[in-house]
Amino acid sequence: MPDLSCTYLGLKVKNPLIIGSSGLTSSLENLKTAASLGAGAVILKSVFEEQIKFETDRLIDSDNTEIKSWKETFESIVNDKEFYYDEAYNYLTSYAREHTLKQYLEFISEAKKNIDIPVIASINCTSQHDWQYFAKRIQAAGADALELNIYLLPSDIEKNGIENEQVYFDVIQEVKKYVTIPVAIKTGYYFSSLAQTLIKLSETGIAGLTLFNRPYNPDIDIEHLKVNSSNMFSSESEYTNTLRWVAILSGRVKCDIAATTGIHNHQTVIKQLLAGADTVQMASVFYKHHFDILPTIISGLETWMTRHNFSKISDFRGLLAQKNIRNPASYERVQFLRLFSSIE
Ligand SMILES: Cc1cc2nc3c(=O)[nH]c(=O)nc-3n(C[C@H](O)[C@H](O)[C@H](O)COP(=O)(O)O)c2cc1C
Repeated sequence: MPDLSCTYLGLKVKNPLIIGSSGLTSSLENLKTAASLGAGAVILKSVFEEQIKFETDRLIDSDNTEIKSWKETFESIVNDKEFYYDEAYNYLTSYAREHTLKQYLEFISEAKKNIDIPVIASINCTSQHDWQYFAKRIQAAGADALELNIYLLPSDIEKNGIENEQVYFDVIQEVKKYVTIPVAIKTGYYFSSLAQTLIKLSETGIAGLTLFNRPYNPDIDIEHLKVNSSNMFSSESEYTNTLRWVAILSGRVKCDIAATTGIHNHQTVIKQLLAGADTVQMASVFYKHHFDILPTIISGLETWMTRHNFSKISDFRGLLAQKNIRNPASYERVQFLRLFSSIE
């Protein structure tokens, strides 16, 4: 049997198949199932800034007796409504933050107690705000590593590319001050100089880059004339953009690479590893088939390795990375050649 074990973020994993952060990784039951069916590691569902805001708004209207009595006391001593609201909001934000964080920390500890594969926590960051404080406690709760999901849509017309990029560096610098566990960055591809920016990010001391976060995209419902969401789940043909960038960056970044988006079967896992990914992260496929598909993907990988006489992952990982192939331009071609333009 080929040996599928490898390292990711400095952690030993039994295979490179990682369950990506999603609703599926927010229950202990699911984590146990994924681990028992062979997952190499799990990334827990992210804590979101919006989640804390949502929780704050919910608390403002809630019947929670502690909150109610606090609001009454505060209202009786403060007459200025606006001041009252700001103060109340600040108080409730810290309350909500504590509450959300406490639940998350407990979940990390439970996951660590119940499964024997690496547990990677995840924070969705859109600013530097308070995340360093979160990160420290996530480490104390026992997480093996931390993935920071930073996805900034460069839609603010007042902000230039340098300002947008700087946010990523600032978040990393802040978080790294407070934690010693490995930190990975999960990011998108909206950088004007994608290759250079990702290389520079990899030089900040992070242990991994997760390429790429799949954005939630809008769509338009032409019958009801409203904006709604496009496909929440990826399709199995969506892996090629990630494949291109994994291949271009492999051997050039100073950290590990995890490939994600559109990885639904063992063939795509193999392609990403050949392009140079250290691991792959999958989510949508488990929404379709639950974790029952995991053993099939693992045995597909083993069978292919055996057929090609590869006894371990390092025998073929990166074999088809851009820097290792005879025609590197094949990963950079974006226009159809004249040859293809005759196709009608
Ligand atoms: C329902 C759902 C929830 C998700 N939640 C998170 C999340 O909390 N944090 C995160 O970093 N990624 C989240 N993702 C993104 C996935 O981790 C993954 O990067 C993305 O779906 C692409 O992989 P896939 O093609 O295998 O689905 C979510 C994806 C889905 C489908």
